[in-house]
Amino acid sequence: VKVAGLPYRSVWRDGDRVGIIDQTRLPYEFHSLRLARVDEVAHAIRSMQVRGAPLIGAVAAHGFALAMRDNPSDRALEATAELLLHTRPTAVNLRWAIDRLTARLRPLASASRAAAAGEEAAAIADEDVAINLGIGRHGLQLIRTVAKTKGKVNILTHCNAGWLATVDYGTALAPIYLAHDEGLPVHVWVEETRPRNQGLLTTWELGSHGVPCTLITDNAGGHLMQHGKVDLVLVGADRVTAAADVCNKIGTYLKALAAKDSGVPFYAAVPTPTIDWTIRDALKEIPIEERSADEVLFVNGIDDTGSVARVRIGTENLAAANPAFDVTPARLITGIITDRGIARATRAGLANLYKQAA
Ligand code: MRU
Repeated sequence: VKVAGLPYRSVWRDGDRVGIIDQTRLPYEFHSLRLARVDEVAHAIRSMQVRGAPLIGAVAAHGFALAMRDNPSDRALEATAELLLHTRPTAVNLRWAIDRLTARLRPLASASRAAAAGEEAAAIADEDVAINLGIGRHGLQLIRTVAKTKGKVNILTHCNAGWLATVDYGTALAPIYLAHDEGLPVHVWVEETRPRNQGLLTTWELGSHGVPCTLITDNAGGHLMQHGKVDLVLVGADRVTAAADVCNKIGTYLKALAAKDSGVPFYAAVPTPTIDWTIRDALKEIPIEERSADEVLFVNGIDDTGSVARVRIGTENLAAANPAFDVTPARLITGIITDRGIARATRAGLANLYKQAA
């Protein structure tokens, strides 16, 4: 995508460093960073300077390449995999990317590892862009169908599953960008997504691209669905099981319940690497990240002087809990939009698209 007329991806190689956009400063400030070492990359993932399942995987792969440039030994290879794997627990794309790097690098002589890791990281990034375009094209069909009968299409989304959460285009937002670009009248209800307010990243992205959108509180979605103001719910995913249960940002489950009750189609946009074929019981086996209570107790914003400020909204010593993801059972989901096509949200539906893996 373009930001202020300049083409950007969410991660890129800049000489011997890795470029990222510091998402903790958006939407207030657009600021890019150059990371020189793998520990800086691990910090960027942990602190959510980069976030979103596909982007975490791609950035970790680039971090792996930095580590191999500094020390390509067997011991460093295993330590790098451990370091990166433990940065965030829920999105499976991180493990997928690290497994791919270790499988490629382990058999190589140490002198060849840095170059091979760089190639693999670049390939993961390029593939992510192609995958998201595939999701975009398949999802676009759904939007076209609604547009034919209703004219204007109102889509509700939760969290940020746009280009900032991927290398480019996004997952849930890819069909929306394509629809807007071909002139379909789309409007997006963007949920705030407390506590990290990723909805503000979504409104920033959509607004920069000229897609009409409206920010709503997390609790408003059900009400809008009951009143016929939502035609389609489109969300991303951090890990999807073979049975089509979808783990995504906390609050997704409640939107799926409301959508089911109101008869609104609910789709998850899922890149192939986000499917974890090893999970049998999503609720028991997917590790749900528990983040700091401070994310609930403090908010960032712009103060009266125009400066970025952080304020406490809870009283001192207030207890707060912060589970960051939840699981939406397949029975509440209308379909899974993948880069290979749209599957029914069932084991058989996914198996039909992924015969070998299933
Ligand atoms: O905690 P985050 O911001 O890394 O979580 C990302 C999400 O859960 C998004 O909803 C997204 O859909 C998954 S990445 C496309």
